[in-house]
Amino acid sequence: MPTERRSLIMLFGATGDLATRKLYPAMLKLFEKGNIRDHFAVIGTSRYKFDDEKYREMVMKSVSKESTNKKQIADFASHFYFVTHDVTDLEHYSVLRDKANELDKKYELNGNRVFYISMAPNFFGTVAKNLKAQHLLSEGNGFNRLVIEKPFGRDFESAKQLNDDLSNAFDEDQIFRIDHYLGKEMIQNIEAIRFGNTIFEALWNNRYIDNIQVTLAEKLGVEERAGYYDNSGALRDMVQNHIMQIVSLLAMEQPVAFKDTDIRAEKVKALRSLRVYNVAEASSNFVRGQYAAVGNDKEYREEDGVPKDSNTETFVAGKLMFDNYRWSGTPFYIRTGKKLADKFTRVDVVFKKPLVDIFAFPQSGSTPLNANVLTIFIEPNQGFSLMVNAKNSEQGFHTEPVQLQFLEDSKRTKETPQPYERLIHDVLKGDGTNFASWPEVASAWKFVDQIRRVWDIQQPMFPNYIPGSMGPVSADELLARDHREWVYKLNK
Ligand code: BG6
Repeated sequence: MPTERRSLIMLFGATGDLATRKLYPAMLKLFEKGNIRDHFAVIGTSRYKFDDEKYREMVMKSVSKESTNKKQIADFASHFYFVTHDVTDLEHYSVLRDKANELDKKYELNGNRVFYISMAPNFFGTVAKNLKAQHLLSEGNGFNRLVIEKPFGRDFESAKQLNDDLSNAFDEDQIFRIDHYLGKEMIQNIEAIRFGNTIFEALWNNRYIDNIQVTLAEKLGVEERAGYYDNSGALRDMVQNHIMQIVSLLAMEQPVAFKDTDIRAEKVKALRSLRVYNVAEASSNFVRGQYAAVGNDKEYREEDGVPKDSNTETFVAGKLMFDNYRWSGTPFYIRTGKKLADKFTRVDVVFKKPLVDIFAFPQSGSTPLNANVLTIFIEPNQGFSLMVNAKNSEQGFHTEPVQLQFLEDSKRTKETPQPYERLIHDVLKGDGTNFASWPEVASAWKFVDQIRRVWDIQQPMFPNYIPGSMGPVSADELLARDHREWVYKLNK
């Protein structure tokens, strides 16, 4: 039996793209499953002049693809209320407060409140401050939780400023910084694979692992988001948050217990031992790219809203080094980009080759032993595979690599809860495991800022990669220099 979570959800940015594409569908799933049911209400706010009815129509439209049960959808939408709100106008907060108190009574919410801010980042601090100053936080036994969408700052300084603003109104354990990658099934599975299997955890270190590769590839270009993206670039958009989070899950020590505080403590420790590069290291260990034109597809600089002389990177590859006992000497290679060959996310853990290859006697015809590779398929496929060397079944004695593979079937994959469903549920439960803590965010920014600093003073040669490829040649050279190559290559 699912546990019903009582709460008021106050949503800032209720008419925005994220709300309609992700948040309402996720809430409907929670409603269908009974995680929210009779005792919940949503107050949506934005500058639109909506009334409750118009808002509910919008909510119903945004979830119409999720279910054919019209009655249930209408029932769900009846919990939604709209307040037109200008986040800088203090008087508006008293309207919100009265509405919140009214709904708290009506739905018996016990004073539980979630404040979800999904709007332009320059408003995050203002909203948090005003929520507290205008007494919207409930008193008594109910909880007050703040959910913050990305981006959390654009460098360490601005992130710290934002965090200070939030901390004036909310404690760290009340702040849930969204990184939707942490809501993905197979990202959560990294911990199960690592800490649930002796065969992996015993070997999960620099003695047995040669290198780890993380790839977040996208097929689409910048689409309609140039306004945001051109000020951000792949390093801030994907590396500082999603990739750093994945890397910290791969690199961390075993947590004392499977609890948010213990897991966060280990992730922070790992990130703090990440080597922050000096200028020379940053320019040799990171490469960037920007996509060119191909066929009818425009180059990045010709996309709507992108300045013709933009030096914003749409691709990043880099080498990360941890200075700690477990990882010293084992690089983590990462890459992400837009307009690449395909849309997928995967992690390849490349083990060291056996020290001696006893099958490689000259007349054997055996191919040299391959490295064992554990691949974690995050999306679109969900599963993992392990490459091992085995004897092939022919006459004589020849070894060849074979793959042991587990892939979730497509029906199960479809039914897997989507990130926002999991994350909203976690917020309602008060479980911070799959959210980024401030010390993690701070360490990630300090690392990324160094790369940015170097890139801001060096003129790139853009565009430098063809859509449909796996990025610029320099991304391959980055590994070739270390006598390595990407496990995932095109046409392989
Ligand atoms: C977002 C980035 O955080 O993640 C986008 O802002 C990117 O630029 C997206 O496209 C990728 O997410 P997913 O879940 O589609 O891999």
